[in-house]
Amino acid sequence: MPTLTIFNSAPAQVVAEAPAVTSRPIPAVLGADLEVPVKGGRLVGYANLDYAASAPCLEPVNAAVAAALPAYSSVHRGAGYASQLTTARYEQARHTVRAFVGARPDDAVIFTRNTTDATNLLAGCLPAGTTTVVFDTEHHASLLPWQQSVRLAPPAFPGAAVRAADEALAGIDGPKLLVVTAASNVTGELWPIAALAHIAHRHGARILVDAAQLVPHRQLNLTALDLDYVAFSGHKLYAPFGAGVLVGRRDWLAEGEPYLKGGGAVRSVGDTTEWHDDPEPRHEAGTPNVLGAIALAAACDALTATGWTALVREEERLIARLRSGLASIEGVRELSLWGDDHPRVGIVSFTVAGYSAREVAEVLSGEYGIGVRDGKFCAHPFVRHLLGAPERRSSDGVSDTGANEGRSGRDHRHAGGCEDGTASAVRASIGIGTTQEHVDRLIEALRDLVAR
Ligand SMILES: Cc1ncc(COP(=O)(O)O)c(C=O)c1O
Repeated sequence: MPTLTIFNSAPAQVVAEAPAVTSRPIPAVLGADLEVPVKGGRLVGYANLDYAASAPCLEPVNAAVAAALPAYSSVHRGAGYASQLTTARYEQARHTVRAFVGARPDDAVIFTRNTTDATNLLAGCLPAGTTTVVFDTEHHASLLPWQQSVRLAPPAFPGAAVRAADEALAGIDGPKLLVVTAASNVTGELWPIAALAHIAHRHGARILVDAAQLVPHRQLNLTALDLDYVAFSGHKLYAPFGAGVLVGRRDWLAEGEPYLKGGGAVRSVGDTTEWHDDPEPRHEAGTPNVLGAIALAAACDALTATGWTALVREEERLIARLRSGLASIEGVRELSLWGDDHPRVGIVSFTVAGYSAREVAEVLSGEYGIGVRDGKFCAHPFVRHLLGAPERRSSDGVSDTGANEGRSGRDHRHAGGCEDGTASAVRASIGIGTTQEHVDRLIEALRDLVAR
């Protein structure tokens, strides 16, 4: 186990190990043996096909948190050994995350609550007058935080995305930021982020990449891709302990308004307040989510140690099986922006003729023990576009297609969810722990449903 010198005292042990050079077997997830009740009272093994919402906890993540808990203590403040140890673990987590995304040595790594928190943090640090360019295909976390933005229609093909960004950025004076997702949370499709970064920089703009759905599935290298900022969430990366991260260039973050104002963000408080210039303390006021950061880093280590080749190979096998199964069922339509052959991660959204998305999701859960997501996945404009539904400009504006009405006419929603009760889709998403049986069960269940 490596040692790490903390403050000026004795070296303390840290849990985080350097990523292994040789690859390890794909780790297990907690809950792989979860049984759930289905109609008639039977228990069946849970087929979790909702990874894009929140992925289950990896066993090494659970182990890292369990190992950190006995010495859990305050960070950055205490002189006690446990406090120093916990501080070392927290700061080690920062290094691990930095390495995981291939960040530049001087990039800031700020722990946040999640991706939404990270995009909002950056939004609060943009230089005055910054115009953001953002596609209508974005998740609300990347679509909404910006004060002044230019919204671009969903592009018909990847090259059109680059051209649209090029034209929009050319027409903007002053500071500019291009915001784009790396992998769509609706279709799983990969976006041409390297080309978009190149275009952004040609116009003197910066680029923020929402990597929430990329990093659980593919390796990301911020330096190689020349990205300015990336944001992602631990709970989608097999680390459901409430931490996310914003990584990127220090200058805007060092000058931006502290995200939270309070202890830790200040150097001194007297008649005037002297805020830290370093982005990490400046934006991490209060006691941070230490266990969340440790969990997030443990997930990064576990994925790196497993190796992307093995992870991607297994995911591609399963997603190909899932998509060809869906394609074989009459009345099931997969949603796609750029066509069947465009590369994508393990996320598929679809509709089933004659049923609302909610009905499909309820049948899959109640009768087959399959967990999927239904709705517009907090990407309302994009899903409306894919469904061919009219644009709704305001909550009391134009009424929608009503295509969400299925056979039962029911559409129960939780308050605080992300849905507007109109035409929507079903999403199946996979990751570590997904089995062929889960995929086959979904296909068979849909076959049964459309035959009713
Ligand atoms: C692409 C994308 N960006 C951002 C988010 C927001 O993530 P969080 O809810 O963890 O803030 C999500 C969540 O679904 C997402 O899929």
